[in-house]
Amino acid sequence: MSSYPTLFSPVRLGPVELRNRVAMLPHTTLYPVGGRPNSRHRHYYEERALGGVGLVIAESHSVEERGASPLFCNASDREGMALWAETLDAVHSHGTKMFAQLSWFGADGTVLDSMRPLLGPSGLASPSAGEATKPMDAADMERVRSGFAAGARNLLDAGFDGVEVKIGHDGMLRHFLSPYFNRRTDEYGGSHENRARFPIEVLRAIRAEVGEDRALGIRLGLYESFPGGYELEDGLEFARLLNATGLFDYVTGDLGTIDNMGTYLVPSSVPEGFAVDALASLREVVDVPVIGFGRIKKPAQAEEMLAAGSVDVIGMARQLIADPQWVAKAAAGNAEAIRPCVACNQECIGRAIKGMAISCVHNPAAGREAELGARTLRPASPGRRVVVVGGGPAGLKTAEVAAERGHAVTLIERSAALGGQVRLASGAPGHEEWGQIVGHLIRRVDELGVTVELGTEATAEHVAGLDPEAIVLATGSGPAPWPFEVEEGAVVLNEWQVLGEGAPTGKVVLVDHGVRFESAALAEAIVEAGGELIWVAAGPSVGPEIVWTHLPRLLAHLGEKGARRMPERVVQSVGEGTVRLADVYTGAEETIDGVAAVVVAGNKVREDSLRAPLAAAAPTFLAIGDCVAPRHTAIAIYEGEVAARSI
Ligand SMILES: Cc1cc2nc3c(=O)[nH]c(=O)nc-3n(C[C@H](O)[C@H](O)[C@H](O)COP(=O)(O)O)c2cc1C
Ligand code: SF4
Repeated sequence: MSSYPTLFSPVRLGPVELRNRVAMLPHTTLYPVGGRPNSRHRHYYEERALGGVGLVIAESHSVEERGASPLFCNASDREGMALWAETLDAVHSHGTKMFAQLSWFGADGTVLDSMRPLLGPSGLASPSAGEATKPMDAADMERVRSGFAAGARNLLDAGFDGVEVKIGHDGMLRHFLSPYFNRRTDEYGGSHENRARFPIEVLRAIRAEVGEDRALGIRLGLYESFPGGYELEDGLEFARLLNATGLFDYVTGDLGTIDNMGTYLVPSSVPEGFAVDALASLREVVDVPVIGFGRIKKPAQAEEMLAAGSVDVIGMARQLIADPQWVAKAAAGNAEAIRPCVACNQECIGRAIKGMAISCVHNPAAGREAELGARTLRPASPGRRVVVVGGGPAGLKTAEVAAERGHAVTLIERSAALGGQVRLASGAPGHEEWGQIVGHLIRRVDELGVTVELGTEATAEHVAGLDPEAIVLATGSGPAPWPFEVEEGAVVLNEWQVLGEGAPTGKVVLVDHGVRFESAALAEAIVEAGGELIWVAAGPSVGPEIVWTHLPRLLAHLGEKGARRMPERVVQSVGEGTVRLADVYTGAEETIDGVAAVVVAGNKVREDSLRAPLAAAAPTFLAIGDCVAPRHTAIAIYEGEVAARSI
C-alpha cells in the first residue's frame, strides 16, 4: 500500500484519464528555435514522463500569427507544431498525457520581433514592461479569437491530448479581467460579467476545435499583485462566471502577475504550499477538477492537499525541473532521495529572464538530458581510484557521480564540514534552504559509500598514499585582495568573515563587487544583526544579479529595516570610520562618515595552491569549479557532473 494513496490514484480531466495526480505545470523553456520545438524538448519532457508524471503541460505557446519571439513556440505555425509529434510519441510511450498551453501575450509581449503593435483591451502598457498597446477593435478581437482557435487546432492535430488557455499571471486574456488594463466602456468592460466576456468568447471558439476525446483547460489568475489590480474575491467571481459556461474540463490555479514575479514564482522565504487556501476557495466555486500549484516539494505535502480536498491534481514546475524522478521516488517510498527545489530561481526563471535556455542550479541535466539525463550515465569500466580534493558543491557532485559510476572515491576536505560556500550562504537569514543543495549531495555521497576525509590537508604525500588513478581538484575560491585602497584603522570584511563569524553592527557599508548575488545574503545578515545598512553598487541598481522574483521582496525588507541604497558609485578608499566614493559617470566624490565596517560581496580569487603539487600525482588530473575561476554554484555543480563522467 502506497503512503500516498490519493496521489497515486487515477483522475479524469474531461475525457482524458491520468494515471496519477501529478502534473508538470507549463513553463517557458526557451528551447525553441525559430518558434519551433526540437529534440531538446523531446529529451526534456520525456525525462519527466520517464520519471512518472501523469500529465505534462507544455510551455506557453504564442497564438499571434508571427509568434511572440523565436524563443517561444508559435502555435500558429502549423508545420512547426507538427514537429511536436516526436516529443508526444516519446512522452506517450511512458503512459503520460501531454497538453500545451496557449497564450496571446499582449502587453506582456514585445514588439521587437514581430514589429506589430501589441494588443490590449484599452491601450495600456503593463506596469513593468511599459510597452503601450493598441486598444482592440472588433477586427482585432476576431483576429485573437480565430488565432486561439487555429493554434488549438494545430496543437491537437500534432497529437496533444488537450490544450490549456492562459488567463493567468501574464497574457491578454487576464488583461481583459483586470480593472487596471481594461478601462472599456462597451460590453467588454465594467462589470465582472463584461470583463469575462472576451475570454469566454475565446474559450467558445477553441471548444469548437476540441473533439470529444481531448481536454480543454484554463489557467486562471486568482488575483493580481499591483495597485489597481483585482483581488481574490474578484478572481473567484471570474472562476464562477467562467465555470458556468461549461466550456472547460479543468482549471489550474494561479496567483499574482508577471509585473510582480515574486508573487507566483515565490522565493524560499515564502512558505511551501503558500497557495493552498486560495486553491481550496477556487475548488469550492467550480465543478471541474482543480490543479494546484505553489512550491509543492514533498509527496506527503501533496498527499495532504489532495486528501484534504484542496485540489484534485498536484501541479509542480520547479520541483520537477530540479528532480524529474520525483514521482518514481515517491512511488518507491523514497521521498528523502528527492533532489529538492530550493526556490532560488537562479537557473530556471533567472536564465529565462536573460533569454537563456532554462536549467537548474543543482540539476545540471535539466535542459541537457541528451548528454546528462537519467539514461546516459555509463558504468565506469574499469572502476578507478578517484581522489576529489575539496568538499564544496563541485567536489561533492564529482564524488556523487563518480561513485555512482562505480569508481572508488575518496573526498578530502580541509575544513571540518562539507558544503563549501553553499553551506556558508545557508547560514544567512532567508537563505537556509540553500543548505538543502549540499544536504542532498552529502546524503548521496554517504549512501554511495564515498570515503570522506574531513579536517584533512590534501598534501602531495597524503594523496600519493591513496594511490589515485584520477585526481579532481575542486578547492574553490577564497577572498581576493581588496579592490580599493584600505587605510590603517579601516575595518573591511569579506563574506567568510560576516557569514562565518557574525555580521558587524553600527553603520555598515555593503559593496557589490561586480554584479554578485552574494550581496543578498550579506545584506540580510547585516540588517538582521541590527546593522545600519548602506548598500553601494556601481550599476544603476543594487544587486543586479539577484533575480527579479527575489529582489523586490529583499529591497522591501531592507527598506523596513531602514537600509539605504547608493547605486552608481564606486568605492575609492576606506579609512578609519570613512568610505570615499566616486560617482561612476561624473567622478564626483563624496564621503560616508561614522562607518563601523565595510563588507565586500563576491570579491573572490581562485584557490588552486594544490594544483602544482597534485597535478602529476595521478595519470588523470582535472580542475573544476571556482579553483579555475570563481563562478556560480550552478557551474561548479555542472563541472563536477561533467568531470565525473569523463573519468
Ligand atoms: C522557467 C519558468 C517558466 C514559466 N513559464 C510559465 C508558462 O509558460 N506558463 C505558465 O502558466 N506558468 C509558467 N511558469 C509558472 C509555473 O507554471 C508555476 O506556476 C510556478 O513555477 C510556481 O510553481 P512551482 O512552485 O511548482 O514552481 C513558469 C515557471 C518557471 C520556473
Ligand atoms: S534553479 Fe533553483 S528554483 Fe529553479 S528549479 Fe532549480 S532549485 Fe528550483
